[in-house]
Amino acid sequence: MTRLIGDYGTHGLIVDVVVLPNYQNKGIGSRMILEIKKYIYDSLDNNEKFLIELCPTTGKRNFYQRLGFKYKPENMDGMYLWIERMK
Ligand SMILES: CC(C)(COP(=O)(O)OP(=O)(O)OC[C@H]1O[C@@H](n2cnc3c(N)ncnc32)[C@H](O)[C@@H]1OP(=O)(O)O)[C@@H](O)C(=O)NCCC(=O)NCCS
Repeated sequence: MTRLIGDYGTHGLIVDVVVLPNYQNKGIGSRMILEIKKYIYDSLDNNEKFLIELCPTTGKRNFYQRLGFKYKPENMDGMYLWIERMK
């Protein structure tokens, strides 16, 4: 499974990229990301562009780089914040 969260406009976030362990390393994860890329590409009009962001887990950087993802340049460093409600 995986999810693309977005605004149907210019920005999207890929989260929850998961393949069951017995099915990993068979190309399924790559296929899911390629399908998302195709879905976005097909929805663009001429001269439009769409930014996908994601946070790779440890050890998965090569997986995403192979699929075309790049690190942000230093002047575009990303930030994040978890908001958690405790009992
Ligand atoms: C990350 C994850 C989704 C990748 O799914 P996957 O189905 O194993 O991905 P793929 O099979 O397309 O690619 C995995 C590797 O297998 C290799 N591979 C792809 N097809 C292959 C095949 N037919 N035979 C052998 N190896 C293959 C790829 O080269 C790839 O290597 P790389 O990661 O060094 O680039 C999976 O490892 C997973 O669920 N991990 C746990 C959750 C997680 O960490 N998710 C990432 C959140 S950011």
